[in-house]
Amino acid sequence: MRKGAGCRALPLVQQRILDDMLATIPDVLTQEEVAHCRKVLEEATWVDGNVTSGEQAATAKRNLQIPEGSPAARETGEIILRALGRNGVFNSAALPLRVLPPMFNRYDMGMKFDAHVDGAIRAVPGAGIRMRADVSSTLFLTPPEDYDGGELIIADTYGNHTVKLPAGHMVVYPSSSLHSVTEITRGARWSSFFWTQSMVRDDGRRTLLFELDMAIMEIRKQLSDENRAVVGLTSHYHNLLRRWAEM
Ligand code: NI
Repeated sequence: MRKGAGCRALPLVQQRILDDMLATIPDVLTQEEVAHCRKVLEEATWVDGNVTSGEQAATAKRNLQIPEGSPAARETGEIILRALGRNGVFNSAALPLRVLPPMFNRYDMGMKFDAHVDGAIRAVPGAGIRMRADVSSTLFLTPPEDYDGGELIIADTYGNHTVKLPAGHMVVYPSSSLHSVTEITRGARWSSFFWTQSMVRDDGRRTLLFELDMAIMEIRKQLSDENRAVVGLTSHYHNLLRRWAEM
């Protein structure tokens, strides 16, 4: 029925997420895909991460990145975009209209990114258009036991959330939120990050739709799709999305 149909069920604790604004999505990449991406990135040339930053971020940021549009970024980016396409939870959480090609960063010893908000408008490479960044995503490519520090700290109305996920897992959060990456004190942290323009610009509305969609998926495990409550709630989901979606 919907794009959410048939997606993997999440355990309740993950489904209730960390809080209302963050979604953690397990196993976006398989372990084979993580290994393949790492191998490609290992052979690539990393450059100073400030090439993608605005002025405020440039002073706050110390990391390395793979140049946008380089063969390594393209190959691994394709793998990630394909994985996003098959991920019902990402599609429900972000309601993507456009996804920028994934980028890659790396924090070695002593590197960090102080608190900042991501830029609102980004150029879509090769397309001659710009897009609004509504949703930020970080896909972890290093197992957490391989480094100390490197936590992603995301602030929302309820306080700070500390995120450090297994390789292949991803966190999705509003681009409007203040966030930082703490200094690495051992090892290195590699990840992919990218921005999405959502069909639903407002963070609060998007969150309501996501929670409603997750609740419907849960209730459909217990009741048939013909059940009147299921039909009613599903209708509401679509009618709210119809009111709020912009394309
Ligand atoms: Ni950022």
